[in-house]
Amino acid sequence: MKTETIVILSNRELDKMRKAGRLAAELLRHLEPMVKPGVSTLELNDEAERWTQVHGAKSAPLGYKGFPKSICTSVNEVICHGIPNAKQILKEGDIINIDVTPIVDGYHGDTSKTFFVGTPSPKAKKLVEVTEECLIRGIAEVKPGARVGDIGAAIQEYAEGHGFSVVRDFVGHGVSNVFHTAPEIPHYGTRGKGKRLRSGMVFTIEPMINEGTWEVEVLGDGWTAVTRDRKLSAQFEHTLAVTENGVEILTLPGSL
Ligand code: MF3
Ligand code: CO
Ligand code: CO
Repeated sequence: MKTETIVILSNRELDKMRKAGRLAAELLRHLEPMVKPGVSTLELNDEAERWTQVHGAKSAPLGYKGFPKSICTSVNEVICHGIPNAKQILKEGDIINIDVTPIVDGYHGDTSKTFFVGTPSPKAKKLVEVTEECLIRGIAEVKPGARVGDIGAAIQEYAEGHGFSVVRDFVGHGVSNVFHTAPEIPHYGTRGKGKRLRSGMVFTIEPMINEGTWEVEVLGDGWTAVTRDRKLSAQFEHTLAVTENGVEILTLPGSL
């Protein structure tokens, strides 16, 4: 059992998180126009790595617990941790989550979005829209005194209300000068349960919502997590700070 304590960031640290978060959001925005039929997930990776270096940052995923690439690219039934590959070419109708985490001056900005490749099927469109709304509803629960379970409950109610399921095996996480730390933020749960949120906490919310079963299978590469029934999965992620009054989304684009 992990017994990490939840850190409260100083204003100086929060400023570094703002810079990292903004760069992460800008990186996603930079990659978005490349998401078209015919592009390989390795091309997305290589452009992300190049752009990250140009901006004086490092890619946290590269070498993290042995992860071989700079970003995660998770297509269709892949829930998360998809590994970019030259042979994986995006095609019309695919959905792809791109998850980026640049490190700026030691601090991590962690964000992801699911993009449509060309025109989505109605079911893919619905899943992706519901998943984005799950993230928004989770964020809306964040304020001092709220509980971790309030976030998960809001997400679970909305996802299951639309006939979708919530992945259990991967959760949001504290993030700062460490990539993954306390607290864990499940995307399911019970209102009024779990740790109490306090001003200065920084963590991600990153719901993974499935069309069918919530059950996960990890492929032989040790990373790629897919739905057990091979139906679609979508994800959106932001890095957030709890403020005196509510919440600040750190991974929004600004001006570079
Ligand atoms: N960015 C992912 C997250 O949201 C973590 C990726 S870990 C990696 O937590 F090793 F797969 F890159
Ligand atoms: Co991420
Ligand atoms: Co994350």
